[in-house]
Amino acid sequence: MTKGYNSSNHMTLMNMETLLPRLSVNVDHVATLRQARGINQPDPVTAAALAELAGADGIIVHLREDRRHIQDRDVRLLRQTITTRMNLEMAATAEIVKIALELKPDMVTLVPEKRAELTTEGGLDVLHQRDVLAPYIESFKKAGIRVSLFIDADAGQIHAAHKVGADTIEIHTGHYCDAVTQVERQEIFSRIVEAARLGEELKLHVHAGHGLNYQNIKPFLSIPQIREYSIGHSIIAHAVMVGLDRAVKEMIQLIATAGSRPAALIDV
Ligand code: PXP
Repeated sequence: MTKGYNSSNHMTLMNMETLLPRLSVNVDHVATLRQARGINQPDPVTAAALAELAGADGIIVHLREDRRHIQDRDVRLLRQTITTRMNLEMAATAEIVKIALELKPDMVTLVPEKRAELTTEGGLDVLHQRDVLAPYIESFKKAGIRVSLFIDADAGQIHAAHKVGADTIEIHTGHYCDAVTQVERQEIFSRIVEAARLGEELKLHVHAGHGLNYQNIKPFLSIPQIREYSIGHSIIAHAVMVGLDRAVKEMIQLIATAGSRPAALIDV
């Protein structure tokens, strides 16, 4: 089955029935463990290389303003060593934008960032921040960096992402993963299905991520528009038990097999 990524042939490949969604692995939590001791182990740079050797299609790191996990040294080394694609997750602030423009990752994913949060909580409010985002997005595009916006499954936000010049939307799956009741889960899932369709209609690349694990990813694999998953915590948590190679391979295998199941057979 084909797993290629190339912006020029993306739309053609999207129409191929056999195309598998890609997996990008977020290695932030390897750095979280390192920072807990303030020493140099474990190294997210090594983890990124191992994830790539296991078959990951891309590596994601979030350089937070408070540098709570990933450090400037990490992103510099990762830029030199990643052989797949580097996706730098970041807040749209002048300091981090400057770093990203110097670093030139393959893609940036703009996310909202609050200092007190444990992890990114909600999608970016593109609708109300268009004036702030537009110049940053333009400068990324001029530098040849693709731009993804992490947004909730909301039609207004998707139209705004399109208008502001994003190449990609990453649909926030965290609310689905946190849902307590089946009714709530089903309702959020339906919104994500609609959002993915709208994204495709607007010729945006559609990714999904946040809170996904080896169980709750299964329903999403029936959504054909989702071409890439961004997964961090569950893979790194599993890797602590079984090793990173196996943890990444198991997720790739899951995406490969469950992806061919019709939606009707998948229990949301
Ligand atoms: N996508 C985005 C935009 C994120 O902020 C995060 C968390 O860093 C992820 C994906 C990965 O989420 P998780 O660690 O829950 O898999």
